[in-house]
Amino acid sequence: MNPQILFIFVLLLNLISISISLQDPNAKTPKSTLSLAHVELTKYGFPVGLLPATTVLGYAVNQTSGEFTVRLGGACKITLPPDNYVATYSKNINGKIVNGRMAELDGIRVRALFKWWSITGIRSSGDDIVFEVGMVTAKYPSKNFDKSPVCEGQHSSS
Ligand SMILES: *[C@@H]1O[C@H](CO)[C@@H](O)[C@H](O)[C@H]1NC(C)=O
Repeated sequence: MNPQILFIFVLLLNLISISISLQDPNAKTPKSTLSLAHVELTKYGFPVGLLPATTVLGYAVNQTSGEFTVRLGGACKITLPPDNYVATYSKNINGKIVNGRMAELDGIRVRALFKWWSITGIRSSGDDIVFEVGMVTAKYPSKNFDKSPVCEGQHSSS
């Protein structure tokens, strides 16, 4: 091969590999399922793990009233640590949120004592998370919710 052509050929190869390596970081970025809604939770003093690692189509918080809605890509079933209660998240979750406290929750249910119970409130209390089912409360260490649980199977219903 003519040395000049060889030089151009090598140069081209280098350019190609440079452009590939420039694209690589993007291609390798892990697809994060943590959305802005997950980040928003932490701003209110809650761990991200209260919201499953699933697609969040949208969320809105009324800063005045604290009313919020979260719209998930689909209903989601998870297992809550440490007692392995099964919980479901509806496609639409509503409630009121202020720092460290969610109330009037609608859309999260937990199975216990052979029944489904609606979680009506969630509080952040020191190092604990307190779940409210009406007047009944259950307390768990926040660190159990440091990671967003992955949905187990898809529900077609909302
Ligand atoms: C937010 O809440 C306040 C107080 O309840 C209400 O007056 C206002 O209309 C709400 N804003 C939106 C955009 O819903």
